[in-house]
This record gives sequence, C-alpha cells and structure tokens, in this order.
Amino acid sequence: MAIIRATAEANPNMAIVKYWGKRDEALVLPQAGSVSVTLDDALKTRTTVMFSDKLAEDEVWINGKRLQTPEELEKALAQLDSARELAKKRLRAKVVSRANTPVAGGLAGSAAGLCALAAASAEALGLVLDAKGLSILSRIGSGSACRSVFGGFAEWLRGNKPDGTDSYAVQIAGESHWPAFRAVVGIAESSEKKVKSRAGMRQTVATSELYKMRLELLPQAIHDAKKAILERNAENLFEIAMRDSNNMHATMLDTWPPIMYLNDTSREVIYAVHELNKDGIKAGYSFDAGPNPVIFTLEKYVPAAEKILKDAGIKKIFVSKTGSGPKILSTEKDHLIDDKGATK
Ligand code: PMV
Repeated sequence: MAIIRATAEANPNMAIVKYWGKRDEALVLPQAGSVSVTLDDALKTRTTVMFSDKLAEDEVWINGKRLQTPEELEKALAQLDSARELAKKRLRAKVVSRANTPVAGGLAGSAAGLCALAAASAEALGLVLDAKGLSILSRIGSGSACRSVFGGFAEWLRGNKPDGTDSYAVQIAGESHWPAFRAVVGIAESSEKKVKSRAGMRQTVATSELYKMRLELLPQAIHDAKKAILERNAENLFEIAMRDSNNMHATMLDTWPPIMYLNDTSREVIYAVHELNKDGIKAGYSFDAGPNPVIFTLEKYVPAAEKILKDAGIKKIFVSKTGSGPKILSTEKDHLIDDKGATK
C-alpha cells in the first residue's frame, strides 16, 4: 500500500484563565474550564504525518530530534491511537514537526504541535471531523491543544460526561474581533521544564488545599473573562489574567513537594507591569508552567511592554496579534516528509 501523508500548521494559544489539573488522565478531561487567545503565525508549528504499512513502529521527530522515552512520546502516541481508532486503521505513523521558532519550543509548543498533528492525522486518514471533533482529538494529545483549533479567543468547556464527549473548545470571538489586542511574548529560558505539566498538575490536584479554593473561583473568572473579551474591556481582562496566573502559581507553590516555575526574571516582570499599571491597567502578565512571561496589552502600549521584558534581560521577544486556527497545506513543497517517506 502507498504511503498516505498530510501536513498542517497550527498556532500556540496562551491561556488567560488557565487549565491546571485533570479529572481523567487518559482522556485528558480537566477539573475546570479555561479561556485562551490564539497567537499569530510568528510562533506556528508545522507537522507532517505519514501513515504506512511499511513502518514497524511509530516515529516522532520534533525540531530535528527523535523522541525516545515513553514519557516524551506519550502525548503524540495517545493522539495517533485515537485517530487510528476513529479511522479503523492500524497503520504505524511517522511524524515530523517543526516550530517556526524552535527557541520558543517550551512556550505553549505542545498546544500548537498537537493541534497540528490532530489536523494532519485527520486529513491523512480521511476522517471528516467538525471543529468539535478536531478539538477533542487535539485534547487527547495535550489538553491546551484543544483551544488552538480556533482563531481569536476560545473557551475549553469542562464538560461532565465520563467519556469526554462534552469537553472541547468553542470560539468566544474570532481573529478580527479585537485588532488592537497584543501578546508580547518573552523567551527567557528555552530549556526543558523541570517538572512537566502533566506530572505537576497531577501533584497539585492530589496535594494542594489551595487548589480546592481555585476550583471554586474559576467559574466566575471564566464568566468575567468572556465578558471582558466580548466587550473588548482591556483593563478588566488584563486584571483577570494577572490574578489567574498568580492564583495558579500559588497552587503550585502550595503543592507538596512545592513546584516553582517562576524565577527572578519572572518576578521582575511582574513588579514592572504593576509599576506600569499604577495609574490604570495597561497590560497584564501571564505565566504557564515555566518562567517565560507573556504580557497581554494593546497596540499602543507594546513599546512599554517590550521595554519591561528587555529591562529584565530578556533578548528574544515576539509581538503577536490574535491568530487563526489550523490550516491544511497540500502542495508537495509544504510536506516535511517526501513521497518515499524520507524526512526533507
Ligand atoms: O496541555 P498542557 O499539558 O500543555 O497543559 C498546560 C497548562 C498550562 O499551559 C500551564 C495552562 C494552560 O491552560 O494552557
């Protein structure tokens, strides 16, 4: 049988109200909903997947490096298995994925990578998925990836069903809803995380008392964030983002043993943003499972946000508008694997 290939590109998303904690590990079902903005092409990831009966095992390459350990492969293999099950095909796969900006790999990279892999796998296997189906397939790879299925702003619905069919992302507002919105992304550190998000959030759910309080606060934060997005209320949205990031990192510190992703550079950025905001909120910081800051702001304050990151010693800075959902690329030159199965 001939090989079947498809290629897709997807953008990372940055959570404004964050996901941290699962209620089902295998199906990647969250303890609570979350809200995000999809970033633009500056940080996109391209993924080609090839399915073939000639392959003896699944092979996954990210930015030129082959993933080896079960832990590294876990996300991609869970998603490939789910796609194969839907398509009722048992073919092994070779996956080649490249980030536009490899140095940004640690920043929401898994969201872009696993959303692109879901879109490419569905295309290659001939699965006809609507946005909900693609969001669920993305989620199986990496929870946060389910939000990259939409451009603009998205909400990941917690859902209640044990089979996860009601836990997927929906769009809050499209890519062109808020033209002045910007995310200023600083790459302070691109090395591997000390505690992977999967292990870290498991530990927080199991041991943090503060986390129980976080779950009580989240429905209101999600409601308020959606309202602020729809009204383009920057002051409210940036305050919600900062409070939510601080709240999530507080539950990490309350985890036993504690998890600390923020470093001195992160803290310097936090203080500087509050200094900038002393006469009214112009920007809001947010941190995922790492020290790299993202500053949400408006176009007119981008120079001030960039200065904050530069003054904190950060050299790699990307300014992103709101971006789009995944795209399928189908010309020969777009594929990262050639028609014989070799990596280009
Ligand atoms: O889906 P994962 O395993 O990449 O989870 C990441 C969770 C955070 O980035 C910390 C927050 C979020 O909602 O994206």
